[in-house]
Amino acid sequence: MDADLISLVNKLQDTFNAIGGETVDLPQIVVVGSQSSGKSSVLETIVGRDFLPRGSGIVTRRPLILQLVHLPPSQPAGPPSPATGVASSYASLPTSSKMPVRSGRSTPNAPGGSPNLPAAPFPPAYNGSSSSSAYSAPAMAREYGEFLHTDKRFYDFAEMRREVEQETFRVCGQNKGVSRLPINLKVYSERVLNLTLVDLPGLTKIAIGDQPSDIERQIRSLVLDYISKPNCVILAVSPANVDLANSDALKLARSVDPQGRRTIGVLTKLDLMDAGTNALDILTGRVYPLKLGFIGVVNRSQADINNNKSISDAIDAEADYFRNHPGYRNIAHRCGTKYLAKTLNQVLLGHIRDKLPDMKARLNTLMGQTQQELNAFGDSAFLGEQHRGSLILKLMTQFVRDFTASIDGTSFEIST
Ligand code: GDP
Ligand code: NA
Ligand code: MG
Repeated sequence: MDADLISLVNKLQDTFNAIGGETVDLPQIVVVGSQSSGKSSVLETIVGRDFLPRGSGIVTRRPLILQLVHLPPSQPAGPPSPATGVASSYASLPTSSKMPVRSGRSTPNAPGGSPNLPAAPFPPAYNGSSSSSAYSAPAMAREYGEFLHTDKRFYDFAEMRREVEQETFRVCGQNKGVSRLPINLKVYSERVLNLTLVDLPGLTKIAIGDQPSDIERQIRSLVLDYISKPNCVILAVSPANVDLANSDALKLARSVDPQGRRTIGVLTKLDLMDAGTNALDILTGRVYPLKLGFIGVVNRSQADINNNKSISDAIDAEADYFRNHPGYRNIAHRCGTKYLAKTLNQVLLGHIRDKLPDMKARLNTLMGQTQQELNAFGDSAFLGEQHRGSLILKLMTQFVRDFTASIDGTSFEIST
């Protein structure tokens, strides 16, 4: 049976939000690796949108905490509401990947769709397929970004990237300075899973420009702050054109995840390896043990970036690369960005599955209580004030059944 993680998780979160319970604490996904290993490129392709500054040298100079926020399908994107909008909706943000309690449904005429108003108990029924329309045209207004540092709402991803750049310059200066002060960006879309991803500055060895002499130590400690949380999935990015024994990413990941349980090895730049060599041994797990394995990817080169190669073209080219490569042909199905996203989804799903018994128990308790209250009211329970209670009960029951039934053996996309 096919199911859809986006709608399931969002239903789950809506259920818990509606009954005032804790939401599901999904793991935060953090990329680590040496400078220019391809971290920002990997993150961006996973999300499927061009919004991160990338390039050789030090580009990412502040942590970027990217919170993807799922918009229910039929909710119109209301106009910005400065009074209650960005700043207050961030009140509960950073570092935890706890889902935000989503704001009430705002309508175009009611900009008071304030995050502080109680949410409508349930968004319109999810149809179970958050299926893909092209990212362009009419869907535009259904996707937008908001930064913590400004009230402006961004509908254009290129503009969002420029804002990240400017905000980096504002705090870190023009000359390669680095700051641990994060940039917080929320991207709202119908086609994402509520999830937090973190892009970090790369590990370096020597100070350049305005960097302090202990830059290596500072970046290391910044990275450790994020990846030492047990509830964090580490994407340890190593470039394939550098010997894996030199990987800063793996060294640091191992220091917080010695068993390699929550680390996914990502091998970038396979296309740049020396002629006559390949990374088959690493990709098949014969070099370094990670429970979640190594996944090879080919991101856009600097020339591709300069030529504005689109993400979807890049993903097609990547698939061709693996299919046609004599060394990787046989493992092509477990290579590439799409497979990485799928793996990430499996990890998230496993996490949810682990939490399921506890969530079910909590729901059952709540349902029992609600049922008792309803019994006390008799038939009138289905009218007026109590209507909401009975509706919640019905939806909860249905939800627990559907959720439990559909969570097994499925695979999902983070964004479509
Ligand atoms: P970061 O510093 O780790 O965030 O790395 P970026 O994502 O900014 O990438 C650094 C540079 O490497 C950019 O010019 C990218 O175009 C390039 N790059 C990243 N991944 C690959 C890859 O798989 N193949 C090639 N050819 N270039 C890549
Ligand atoms: Na870089
Ligand atoms: Mg970067």
